[in-house]
Amino acid sequence: MIDSRTLRVALLGAGSVGSQVAKMLLENRRELAARAGADLELVGIAVRDVDAKRDVELPRELLTTDAESLIRGADIVIELMGGIEPARTYILDAVNSGADVVTGNKALLAAHGAELFAATEQVGAEISYEASVAAAIPILRPLRDSLAGDNITRVLAIVNGSTNFILDRMDRFGETMEEASKLAFEAGYLEADPTLDVEGYDAAQKVTILAGLAFHSQIDADRVHREGITSVTAEQIEAAQSAGYVIKLLAVAERLTTPEGELGISARVYPALVPREHPLATVYAENNAVFVDAEAAGPLMFYGAGAGGVQTASAILGDVVSAARRHVAGGPGLNGSNHAGLPLLPIDDVVTKYQINLRVEDRPGVLSEVAGIFADFGVSVQTVEQSIADEGDGLATLIIGTHRAREKALSAVVDALGEANVTDRIVSVLRVEGAQ
Ligand code: HSE
Repeated sequence: MIDSRTLRVALLGAGSVGSQVAKMLLENRRELAARAGADLELVGIAVRDVDAKRDVELPRELLTTDAESLIRGADIVIELMGGIEPARTYILDAVNSGADVVTGNKALLAAHGAELFAATEQVGAEISYEASVAAAIPILRPLRDSLAGDNITRVLAIVNGSTNFILDRMDRFGETMEEASKLAFEAGYLEADPTLDVEGYDAAQKVTILAGLAFHSQIDADRVHREGITSVTAEQIEAAQSAGYVIKLLAVAERLTTPEGELGISARVYPALVPREHPLATVYAENNAVFVDAEAAGPLMFYGAGAGGVQTASAILGDVVSAARRHVAGGPGLNGSNHAGLPLLPIDDVVTKYQINLRVEDRPGVLSEVAGIFADFGVSVQTVEQSIADEGDGLATLIIGTHRAREKALSAVVDALGEANVTDRIVSVLRVEGAQ
């Protein structure tokens, strides 16, 4: 039975996610009403062009180009337009007119989250954004609510499906980056501007959101350390395989204490070596996964589809039902807390492990010279492997794995190795994540 209370739902955007959201709201209206405790009436869908071709046929009478009028009088506004403007203005209008907002707009949240949350807080409304990170995977509510009594120490995540697809094709099928990227493009996995994916911007926006929730702090997205996958070579993939690793584009957020005793957060994105036995190593194709370490709960992994119209619509609808329940129950919105106010620490303060692959002269004393460079910067070597393949050039390949050390010291080692006379070239430098 439909509840006597009706909540007016306005949808902004009818692209691949928006049209699925509209379809699900219309088709599942009775069931959603029973779950939410109120009828969810889709009162309109704001679009740029009412005649545009859509994935799903939508009732013509719901389509409008007048977003402002639609927002006024709505109880719940779903923003699925993407981009910064006019999405930001519409969300602020919605909040200021008393509506709750559901959005999947990671770029907007990463750039203007503080402003949107402050506006929401001011009027006691709520902004929900489960779909903004790893789409269908429930991860933001678990971080905000389910783990609210625990202390999260670290989040290691694969949150960009297209780059995971590309690296996975290179690893499992021996494709070149070009071949794998072409397939990712044809399958529609890449953003309209693929730089956002392959240069790590998309993952950086998502780790900004994850780190903020995990560590109760506001993170500045522009200061997140970011490296993309464009420099990953087939040679590195092969070397990783023979050393028992797989290369993944990781988004990492962790709580850190510097040697000087400063407590802060590191948020960073880079391609890293992940041990084959780590659960993240088995995240194939375009899937996403978020691996969380919490003091009491221990390791947890959340896995699934990180994109897709109907998959993302699932997360949006979940937020809509929650927002509706809050309207029914009354009281101010439940928002994440920034009370910890931890600073974002520079990459230099991160403690990690490096795997350095270099070509050196093959003569007595070289190994001790190389070892001396590590010692000079206080970096302890964990493994050394010398390749015996003789390429007739008087050179040998050294693969050196370090113990955990500060990034500042590790990068100084790499610089010094690059300048050493014994070094012909540094083939690759990758960080190792998820290893003991
Ligand atoms: N381009 C993104 C990805 C889509 O590859 O994961 C989902 O945000």
